[in-house]
Amino acid sequence: MRVKIEKVVFPGVGLVKSNGKAIFVEGGVVPGDIVNVRTVKESRDYLKTAVTGFVRFSEHREKYFCRYGGKCGGCLWMGVNYDFQLQIKKSMLKDLFLRNAGIEIDDIDLVPSTPPYPYRLRARFKIENGKIGFYKRNSHELVEIKNCPVCLDGINRGIEYLSGKIKQYRSHFPSFLEVEIRYSPFEDSILFRPAGKISKKLKNIFLYDINREREFQNFKFGDNTYHLSINTFTQINPFQNEKVIARIKEFVMQKKLSKVIDLYGGFGNLSLPLEEFVEQITVVEENSYAVEDGRYFVSVNGIESKVKFVNDRVENFMNEPERGDLLILDPPRKGAKEVMNNIEKISPHWIIYLSCNPATLTRDVKIATKKGYKISDIILFDFFPYTPEIETMVFMEKG
Ligand SMILES: C[S@@+](CC[C@H](N)C(=O)[O-])C[C@H]1O[C@@H](n2cnc3c(N)ncnc32)[C@H](O)[C@@H]1O
Repeated sequence: MRVKIEKVVFPGVGLVKSNGKAIFVEGGVVPGDIVNVRTVKESRDYLKTAVTGFVRFSEHREKYFCRYGGKCGGCLWMGVNYDFQLQIKKSMLKDLFLRNAGIEIDDIDLVPSTPPYPYRLRARFKIENGKIGFYKRNSHELVEIKNCPVCLDGINRGIEYLSGKIKQYRSHFPSFLEVEIRYSPFEDSILFRPAGKISKKLKNIFLYDINREREFQNFKFGDNTYHLSINTFTQINPFQNEKVIARIKEFVMQKKLSKVIDLYGGFGNLSLPLEEFVEQITVVEENSYAVEDGRYFVSVNGIESKVKFVNDRVENFMNEPERGDLLILDPPRKGAKEVMNNIEKISPHWIIYLSCNPATLTRDVKIATKKGYKISDIILFDFFPYTPEIETMVFMEKG
C-alpha cells in the first residue's frame, strides 16, 4: 500500500486517515513523505503499518549530515529540517494534553537545542562480533559506527579507543555487550560503563579513562561543579540542562520559597543550584551512587544544614513525606502517578515537573488538576534533536 503522511502523533508515528480508518506508519516518517507500507496489525478502527520504502521525501527533508543517515536507528529524524522537527513535537505535545488531560493549550514555549548538534554527552552503543555501533531502524542488525555527529567529540574519541581495544582483545569480548560512553566537556574526560557482568580483563579496559584510571568525572552545570560516578544519571544534553537549571533558578528567585522537595532528584542537578535562595532542600533518590555524589557536593560546599539527601524509593518516601512549598519532579518514563495521587501529603504551593515522557506527564498533570492545581507554564526544552523524543517542563500552582 502507498500512503502520504498527513501528521505525526506520539511517540513519533505517521498518521493517515483513509475511509474513516486511521493508518499508523512506523519508520521515522514526517508529514509530506510518500511511502510504501506493509501491514503489521489490523483492527476494526485502525491499521498499524511499517515503511518498506520511500517513494518521495517530504519537502521538509534535507541532506543527511551523517554518513549513516537512513540506516542507523539512533536518529529517527536524521535529514528532517530542525525547525520542522520542533513544530511536529509541539503538535504531538498539544495533542497529548488534549487527549490525556482534557486541556487545550494555545501555545507552548519552545526552547530549541543550541546547537542542534552535536549535543549528546553520553550515548549507549552495542558491541557485536568485533564491531561497535547502533542498531538499524526497527531491527537488531548492527550498523557499525566510526563517528556519530550528534555526539560530542569526546564520545567519538571513545568510539575510536574502544574500536582499537576490541581489535586488540577480541577474544575477551562476549558476543554481545552494551556500553555507555560518557564525556565531560568541562575536564575533557571520557568514561565507559559496560552493562552487566564482564571479565576482569575487560573491566580494566573499560575502567580506563583516557587521562587516568578512575570511575568519576567532574562536570560543570550552571555555576556548580560536581564530582560524578559513572553510575550516576546525567542529563544527555548539557546545553539544555543549563537552560532548565537557569529557568528553575529564575522562578525560585522571584518567589521567595522556603522548602524544596526534589523527587527523583539524582545527585541534585535541579535543586542544588537553588541552595542560596531557599532555606531547606530535600532530595529523594534511589541510586546510592547519585546520593553519595550529591552528599559529597554538600559537604565540600559546607551546606549540610540546608540540604538533605534521602536514599530511598520515592514510593517509600511518600508513606510519610515531608511538606514543602515547591515540589520538583523529574521521574523516569513511567512518570509519578503515586506522587500525584498523594500530593496533599506534601502540599506544595508550586510544582515543577520535568518529564521525558509526555504520555505519563499529561496523565499526571490531569491528576494534579483534579486536586486543584493549575498550569502556569509549559516549556518544551528540546533535549533530543533528530529524534521524536520530547522533554517538557510544566509549572503548576495550587489554585
Ligand atoms: C530522569 S532522572 C533525573 C535525575 C535528576 N533530576 C537530574 O536532573 O539529573 C530520574 C532519576 O530517578 C531515579 N529513580 C528512578 N525511579 C526511582 C524511584 N522509584 N524512587 C527514587 N528514585 C528513582 C533514577 O535513579 C534517576 O536518578
